[in-house]
Amino acid sequence: MKKRIKVSAPGKLMLFGEHSVIYGKPCIVTAVDQRIRVNIGSSDNKYLKISAPQVNLDNYIESIDNLGRSDAPAGSRFVSLAVKNFFDYYKTGFGLKVTTESDFSSKFGFGSSSAVTVATIKALSQFTNSNLDNDQIFELSYKTVLDVQGVGSGFDVASAVWGGTIYYIKGKKTKGTLKHMKLPLIVGYTGIKADTPTLVRQVADLYQKDKKRVNSVFGSISAIVEESKKAILGRDLKKLGMLMNENQQLLKYLGVSSPELDKLIGASLKAGAYGAKLSGAGGGDCMIAVVPPDKLRLVGREIERQGGIVLAVKTQAQGVRVEKI
Ligand code: MEV
Repeated sequence: MKKRIKVSAPGKLMLFGEHSVIYGKPCIVTAVDQRIRVNIGSSDNKYLKISAPQVNLDNYIESIDNLGRSDAPAGSRFVSLAVKNFFDYYKTGFGLKVTTESDFSSKFGFGSSSAVTVATIKALSQFTNSNLDNDQIFELSYKTVLDVQGVGSGFDVASAVWGGTIYYIKGKKTKGTLKHMKLPLIVGYTGIKADTPTLVRQVADLYQKDKKRVNSVFGSISAIVEESKKAILGRDLKKLGMLMNENQQLLKYLGVSSPELDKLIGASLKAGAYGAKLSGAGGGDCMIAVVPPDKLRLVGREIERQGGIVLAVKTQAQGVRVEKI
């Protein structure tokens, strides 16, 4: 066993295909250069100790024999269930101290839960010299996210593991990286934290009410994802913008946009963006816009004039990795 290990995993931005990805359709997600770091060290007794300032945990302690209790603070659950799933997989258990640090707030919808889960599993793998490969890290992390949240396509887990920009289909191994230059994207935060499981359930209710219509919306989103893959590879920014606008109309039809998202999207289009859409579950969190490079500042200013917060992120970040201590 090593003495200490530090691992980081990136946050993500969904580019195309949110919600329909839950129903087996493809999506495109890019990893961003804002990361979560997980430090692991041993602890001399059979307790897991978690310090995670970004979710207000200061030396929170759980017994190794009772990890991931449902009454544990929400901020601890991804780490403690990741540890539990790792221990169950290897039929082991020992005292641990886990400290996490984040470049970004968990409010933004950048996938802090999946990033912290992936970084924890990879750190445990390194710490114990188990050398899990990326597929195994994905499986254990995805199981952990489902254990905590109950819902999710796993696209955010895949993004944290593999990084880059990937084309992802739930349950299939189509996680090939799309090679492209960094996209000129603007990210605007609405100031409102969205609750992904609630929005996923809202779309599920709509689906139950009118399967035929909602299926046809998912089919159209799927076609947009295929087109956008080509546009990303060909670096056709105008086309990409047009596809974002189409995807946004379909998300509105599913009822997951919000007045705040619409306002920031409208502002960026008015200021010259090629296209814009919400990114993630909707209901708040962030919007993204693809923008001609010479209009980036103008679009950013307009988003801020409308009450949004521009977040400086770069796409195509590296997936989970071991860091120097
Ligand atoms: C949320 O960021 C994206 C959703 O498609 C949920 C998921 O795929 O897990 C709404």
